[in-house]
Amino acid sequence: MAERARVAVLLSGRGSNMQALVAASRAAGARYEIVLVASDKPEAPGLAWAAGQGIATFAASPRGRPKAEFEDEIDAALRAAGVEVIALAGYMRLLSAAFVAAWAGRILNIHPSLLPKYKGLDTHARAIAAGDDVAGASVHLVTEALDDGPVIGQVRVPVMEGDTADTLAARVLVAEHQLYPLALSDFLSRN
Ligand code: GRF
Repeated sequence: MAERARVAVLLSGRGSNMQALVAASRAAGARYEIVLVASDKPEAPGLAWAAGQGIATFAASPRGRPKAEFEDEIDAALRAAGVEVIALAGYMRLLSAAFVAAWAGRILNIHPSLLPKYKGLDTHARAIAAGDDVAGASVHLVTEALDDGPVIGQVRVPVMEGDTADTLAARVLVAEHQLYPLALSDFLSRN
């Protein structure tokens, strides 16, 4: 691994976690730099933000073609950028077993629940419906099963009386922005 690990962020949307990773990467002593922000959605707001920051971006649409071809294109962009570690941040597409195997142990994801609880979508609504008084977020290593790899960092956030999925999501998101840079740094210092 380079002295400052070369990290790519994959996203499909607004990219607030990516922005938190970029901000932390610019602090003195940071263990990583974000060398590429890539997306399956050319119109993702996170891509435009990254480009505006002078960060290299890449978009490939999976529409109307085999998944392998689409993933090969992403893989080639990652390799051309010398990427060592991939951070998924709101990347809404399941990676194939072949892609995960090619990057085994080098893909992280952030998920807005205290895994193993609430894999998949609608985590906040499910936590509220279950009557949980604590919610949170997890950073985990990616395996081919959805939201299933080993957890490497978690943050707990209280569920407040009267919370809706939106108010809880907003509270958890603030905690995600603190968790992800720390979990990524911890991971890099151990690998
Ligand atoms: C975050 O809640 C993240 O945990 C989940 O998708 C959301 C992405 O938000 N995987 P953003 O694009 O980082 O703002």
